[in-house]
Amino acid sequence: MKANILAIESSCDDTSAAVIQDGNVLSNVTANQKVHEAYGGVVPELASRKHQINIIPVVDAALKKANIEASELNAVAFTKGPGLLGSLLVGVGFAKSFALGLGLPMIEVNHMHAHVLAHFAEDPKPAFPFLCLTVSGGHTQIVLVKDYLDLTVLGNSIDDAAGEAFDKTGKIIGLPYPAGPHIDKLAKEGEVKFSFSEPKVDGLDFSFSGLKTSILYFLQKQVKEDPTFIDKELANICASVQQSIITILMNKLKKASEMYGITEIAIAGGVSANSGLRTALAKTAQELGWNHYIPRFEYCTDNAAMIGVASYYKYLAEIFCNQSVKAEARMAF
Ligand code: KG4
Ligand code: ZN
Repeated sequence: MKANILAIESSCDDTSAAVIQDGNVLSNVTANQKVHEAYGGVVPELASRKHQINIIPVVDAALKKANIEASELNAVAFTKGPGLLGSLLVGVGFAKSFALGLGLPMIEVNHMHAHVLAHFAEDPKPAFPFLCLTVSGGHTQIVLVKDYLDLTVLGNSIDDAAGEAFDKTGKIIGLPYPAGPHIDKLAKEGEVKFSFSEPKVDGLDFSFSGLKTSILYFLQKQVKEDPTFIDKELANICASVQQSIITILMNKLKKASEMYGITEIAIAGGVSANSGLRTALAKTAQELGWNHYIPRFEYCTDNAAMIGVASYYKYLAEIFCNQSVKAEARMAF
């Protein structure tokens, strides 16, 4: 018999549902929330309200697209955390009621594990052990992946995440939220003209708050001398900021590869959609003989397919949770 899993993701501002059959993605439907754009960041209260509106239509659409009836499901998977508590509660509450109503087992999934395991949604798949740089709006991690259920964080951001560095810098220069994709686009039209110092952080940990501050001070100084500086230099500022973030990420990834002697290298999370980072990874991979893996855009940003794929390996290992499970905003890895 085939294993059909309905997966739910609602950790931040995307409401997503997917149907996974024997580890393969049959459908992956995501409703994005535009409501936050006007605020320059995700407003938690508005996000949970939108999830409530979107969750049933999104689940219906995922089941229809997969051509699977609710009665054909074998399990319900959901994001337990980390994320915004109000957002997570909508997904967890929905998954509990749905599973209870249909008498299905439930599988809790760690959102950051899922970003890594998104690599198993389709070919080519990395071979174990591999290193994954997970870069999103909330996290920056280097993860050692020895098996589907054996993941260890080797390095973390001690302050802002890489995505936040893009978004916060974007806000300073007047770009809409989330600024990452806008900086990516503008960077292509500019050149790396300005440099910002790389933070000194021990081991495989990251820091991005110093970079944000040095960009802010640099721009304040320039604007004082020429109020039109940001407008005139926008593309060059974007290219320079993007390059600084990429340099920080790539240097730590190279260090991790050297330390662990691993040349199977993957990137995951929303920031892995960045074209500059993708190019830098491909170039380094060629220079250093790495096999590198970058998920398709659909599987980089938040999506339920990655939750479903991650849950499939727990399903095989018969790791289920019960109805007393609760959402966790700060969930240990
Ligand atoms: O993984 P994700 O969708 O959500 C979280 O779990 O946080 O990541 C969202 C982050 C945002 O900070 C967004 O600006 C960034 O990913 N992002 C990008 C690009 N596309 C999305 N950053 C740089 N370049 C991009 N093309
Ligand atoms: Zn994410």
